Amino acid sequence: MVAADPVDIELRLLVEAIYLRYSQDFRDYSPASLKRRVLHAQQQLDYPNISAIQERILRDPMAFAQLMQFITVPVSDMFRDPAYFLALRHHVVPVLRTYPSFKIWIAGCSTGEEVYSLAILLREEGLLSRALVYATDINPASLERARQGIFPLERMRSYTANYHKAGGLASFSDYYTAAYSGALFDRTLVANVTFADHSLSTDSVFSETQFISCRNVMIYFNKKLQERAVGLFHESLSHRGFLGLGAKETLDFSVWTPRFEAVSRPDRLYRKL
Ligand SMILES: C[S@@+](CC[C@H](N)C(=O)[O-])C[C@H]1O[C@@H](n2cnc3c(N)ncnc32)[C@H](O)[C@@H]1O
Repeated sequence: MVAADPVDIELRLLVEAIYLRYSQDFRDYSPASLKRRVLHAQQQLDYPNISAIQERILRDPMAFAQLMQFITVPVSDMFRDPAYFLALRHHVVPVLRTYPSFKIWIAGCSTGEEVYSLAILLREEGLLSRALVYATDINPASLERARQGIFPLERMRSYTANYHKAGGLASFSDYYTAAYSGALFDRTLVANVTFADHSLSTDSVFSETQFISCRNVMIYFNKKLQERAVGLFHESLSHRGFLGLGAKETLDFSVWTPRFEAVSRPDRLYRKL
């Protein structure tokens, strides 16, 4: 029998310790990328090895919060993959328009860029006041930043370009003011948004929704957890509800494949059958 790599053993023990101590379940994340991120945290936070991280986080919630910043990948962009947002305008908006009110779930919203992008799109389509949006994540620090809606000013140039490629109809700078050395987004955009802690690994279904956007989240999960997450989405979606995924994610090769149709495969946009 080949002995397991000590680093892999340490990683498993760390993940187990996180689960037992904080009820955050990373046990079904893709091991290669989790390992990469934990090793990066070890280096950046100056721990001698992964066991030292485990020992520290067991007794120090602040150290765990710091580690979460590395293992949850709090990275996002506004109008990320503009073609996705264009596809929402073409395929999803006309259907949402037929409802007097509707619910949207943005799962794994990170620091909120996706939420503000979608809110801008809905406002331009005259639908924002009809929407109730749940924006969820497991990282409390990211959710807090999402609530604040302040993004780096230096990103505005590329976000403006994305916005126009995504079919943006106005001047992007109308949506923010320069404040606190960042771009503070119009608070009314998130008046109907509830930011909430929710884990696709351990929590149950989230309300009944007409559209779910879960982008660049399942890419970090193993097959079993991906199936769990899509199961939650299937259960949450109303009849003929839409599901949007990230550019590197797909519903192909899933037990759920027969339960959805592809609306636009290149844009990773699906509809419940
Ligand atoms: C790379 S960001 C994606 C942000 C945004 N959706 C986008 O596409 O720009 C991944 C997010 O997924 C969240 N996440 C990771 N595991 C999760 C889980 N089990 N349940 C909910 N969110 C999770 C992370 O905290 C992180 O904010």
